[in-house]
Amino acid sequence: MSTIKIGLFGLGTVGLGIYSIIGKARNTHAEISRICVRSLDKPRPAEVRSELLTDRPADILDDPEINLIIEVIDNADAAYRIVSEALRRGIAVVSGNKAMIARHLPELIELQRTHGGALLYDASSCGSIPVIRNLEEYYDNDLLLEVKGILNGSSNFILSRVFDHGEDYARALREAQELGFAEADPSFDIEGYDSLFKLVIITVHALGVYVSPDDVFTYGITTISSDDIRLAREKDMKIKLVAQVVKVADESFTMFVMPEFVAPSKYIYSVDNEYNGVVIRGECYDRQFMFGKGAGGFPTASSILSDVTARLHNYRYEYKKMGYLGRPAYTTDVELRVYIRFTPADTATVEALPFTRVRERYTSDTHSYVIADIPLRALIEAREQLRAPGIFLCNIPRFFLDRD
Ligand SMILES: NC(=O)c1ccc[n+]([C@@H]2O[C@H](COP(=O)([O-])OP(=O)(O)OC[C@H]3O[C@@H](n4cnc5c(N)ncnc54)[C@H](OP(=O)(O)O)[C@@H]3O)[C@@H](O)[C@H]2O)c1
Repeated sequence: MSTIKIGLFGLGTVGLGIYSIIGKARNTHAEISRICVRSLDKPRPAEVRSELLTDRPADILDDPEINLIIEVIDNADAAYRIVSEALRRGIAVVSGNKAMIARHLPELIELQRTHGGALLYDASSCGSIPVIRNLEEYYDNDLLLEVKGILNGSSNFILSRVFDHGEDYARALREAQELGFAEADPSFDIEGYDSLFKLVIITVHALGVYVSPDDVFTYGITTISSDDIRLAREKDMKIKLVAQVVKVADESFTMFVMPEFVAPSKYIYSVDNEYNGVVIRGECYDRQFMFGKGAGGFPTASSILSDVTARLHNYRYEYKKMGYLGRPAYTTDVELRVYIRFTPADTATVEALPFTRVRERYTSDTHSYVIADIPLRALIEAREQLRAPGIFLCNIPRFFLDRD
């Protein structure tokens, strides 16, 4: 591919960032030929050339001059229709849509194989941090033991305000919304789904295995209270929303998204505000750490630009690990150690959980907590009950403690 003619879907936070930096990056040999948006009537910044705008996807998909599509729209179903149709036509696509990719990845991989197109999506996982291409290329071996990190900037911003600035949770959430780090409906971020979708994509490139988002235990920070924060502080810990995929044996791995008590010795302890941080652990190099801006128009656009440039050299993900001999299998048959805080009204729910060993109990008139070992599969079975407003669950890390 010598010159890239781009059809851009979406001109919001990320789309405007791309519009701006593609113009500046002269060595990219790329130009935006057409931009498809939802509403042609919406006011746009003065620098946007209005003659490029359309609201008809076909104006891009049917244009034989366009050889790359960038999809950065906020609607996962429409994104799926656009991206799958482009791949069916053998057109290369760069996308940042984690929800769409995490739900449809097996089919999107098959479409690339059948029709010869390519789909790149480093921006979908941790914005500007190049996690996917590194896992795909540099960590192309079976020595990876764990990928773990803070993958969502909004929830991390809120927890930082709470822990480092002593704000209460509701105020921190309002502030995140005012600064544009959290959506008006922040549930996607603070209930852990944004981290989950990124983790599903990361797992495909880390271990060569696709696990449906529906099969992964995901617990957010919505129900955290001042009691939990006080206890973490007393133990000289912070609470962070952590996503992790972990090899638990040669032939199996597990994965989950959960708040976690994080000690000061951990890299992610210092990942604050809207930043993301990813720790990669391998057999031979202990821990490596990637840190940076996980969201925002320009950081995300820089990752998209990197994928565009990669297409200049016909780069594609080969999903090599999916063909490895003896890929590990996903298991929920692992024992975790958790802290569960609950109100008196939730006592029956918590007491019904099949703990294998209770390590600590605390009871007061207003709230109680238990620290106990429990199989991950039991948490999955009880996930609806555990979402009660009076319950908060937090992981106490157990894997690889002897190696840090
Ligand atoms: N924001 C970030 O920091 C970030 C980081 C990483 C990944 N992402 C991902 O990037 C994507 C875009 O995020 P964003 O924050 O830029 O969203 P946004 O600011 O809400 O902008 C969404 C854009 O999509 C357009 N759109 C919606 N439905 C469309 C359709 N059916 N056809 C054509 N255009 C359509 C909208 O058009 P109108 O302008 O006409 O309304 C708007 O321009 C999402 O998948 C998000 O998960 C975002």
